[in-house]
Amino acid sequence: MTAGPKRSRLQVVLPRPTRPIDPAFRHPRPEDAPELGDLALRAYRGTPDDGDVGTSPQEAAEEMGRVFDGTYGPPLLDASYVLAHEDRLIAGALVTLWKDGPLLAYLFTAPEHVGKGLGSRLVNAVMAALGDLGHTSLNLAVTEDNRAARRLYERLGFVVVQGRSV
Ligand SMILES: CC(C)(COP(=O)(O)OP(=O)(O)OC[C@H]1O[C@@H](n2cnc3c(N)ncnc32)[C@H](O)[C@@H]1OP(=O)(O)O)[C@@H](O)C(=O)NCCC(=O)NCCS
Repeated sequence: MTAGPKRSRLQVVLPRPTRPIDPAFRHPRPEDAPELGDLALRAYRGTPDDGDVGTSPQEAAEEMGRVFDGTYGPPLLDASYVLAHEDRLIAGALVTLWKDGPLLAYLFTAPEHVGKGLGSRLVNAVMAALGDLGHTSLNLAVTEDNRAARRLYERLGFVVVQGRSV
């Protein structure tokens, strides 16, 4: 969530009726912040958003803590999801209420699990939960060079709503 490279603001209109949530997912809890920080640090390493969650496990845990403590707007934990595999978190999607609506503040998948559809499944779950909560759209900011993320979002129906970041 740093200033940094050029980002686009994307938005998707949420579908209704929504689909059932993947039973493997659970909602994140504030005490997940350190593990989510480790995961995010590994996920962002080497991507165009490297450094977004800091450069050390402690900084990354603090950044995840800021999502939970409301720095980016009230956290919408009922519409946020994490996925564990063998007792370790391997993917997460964190949503807050920012200005005019829900914001996908963070989405990440462990490097050893990318390309298996986890990111897409998580965003689908977020969209379904937000729809059930009565929200009508979901916003996010994505770096222009982040091809993997842009491709995922475009496939799920997100469109650019303004040239610059949220
Ligand atoms: C973006 C991210 C969450 C995707 O997670 P994922 O679990 O791999 O998601 P999926 O498997 O559902 O989809 C990944 C898509 O990106 C594509 N992809 C993966 N790496 C890519 C790359 N280097 N360049 C282009 N496309 C790539 C995959 O082919 C797939 O698209 P497809 O299904 O149309 O073929 C993950 O790469 C990640 O954690 N990145 C670092 C954090 C980040 O950038 N988050 C988003 C910030 S807005």
